[in-house]
Amino acid sequence: MDNRGPRVIAHRGASAQAPENTMAAMEKAADLGAAWVEFDVKLSRDGHPVVMHDDTLRRTCGAPGAVADLTLAELSAFRAGAWFGPAFADEPIPTLEGLVALLERRGLGANVELKPCPGRDTETGQVVGAFLRDRWPASLPVPVVSSFSDESLAACRAVAPDLPRALLVEAIPGDWADRMAALGCVDLHARWRELTAEQVRRVRGAGHALRCYTVNDPQAARRLFDWGVDAVISDAPDRMPNG
Ligand code: G3P
Ligand code: MG
Repeated sequence: MDNRGPRVIAHRGASAQAPENTMAAMEKAADLGAAWVEFDVKLSRDGHPVVMHDDTLRRTCGAPGAVADLTLAELSAFRAGAWFGPAFADEPIPTLEGLVALLERRGLGANVELKPCPGRDTETGQVVGAFLRDRWPASLPVPVVSSFSDESLAACRAVAPDLPRALLVEAIPGDWADRMAALGCVDLHARWRELTAEQVRRVRGAGHALRCYTVNDPQAARRLFDWGVDAVISDAPDRMPNG
């Protein structure tokens, strides 16, 4: 464990064994012994936080339409698991509220990724930040909020300054330290493939936790842990070494 979480975090839930970002994927992660899950949150047209990666329904719901164009009531009619397998045909698009109730019941911690629909960065940070501030179960460890969107992170900070934030990047950009300082981010989440041992040394040397996504190869995870990476975010948490 670093001071804010375990060594292995289940990416979109246990998404190698159940459809990503569904209740089933979170249950599966808990069944496999994961301590934390990562999931993606965006807003329905009427401003309710829902758990989905893509802006559109095409890939995971097999339907036309965009999340930002549909109300929560409309989104509740879609199913998000049939693409993965018939056993998951009834999986709904989770609401953040419903998913947090599951986390509380299963004792799962979380990395909550703000994944705004285009043009809704600020609103997404505000709504999700306020929800986590007011409704996060006291029995769970404090969540880490991450985003590729500086605007979403800033908006989340404004409403919930005490929630730890992580800047989410692909390859670590040259201005990572300045961006993290400007946003008050405590941790950095980066894509593992481009990472170097030297970058790990610098980020950790500056006092930040460094977590990497999406690591599904146990050997790669071992090397990253050897370099000093704090945690890996994996579709297959049960296949990862524990550091
Ligand atoms: O938060 C880590 C990872 O989930 C970021 O990429 O596209 O899987 O949300 P993505
Ligand atoms: Mg994500």
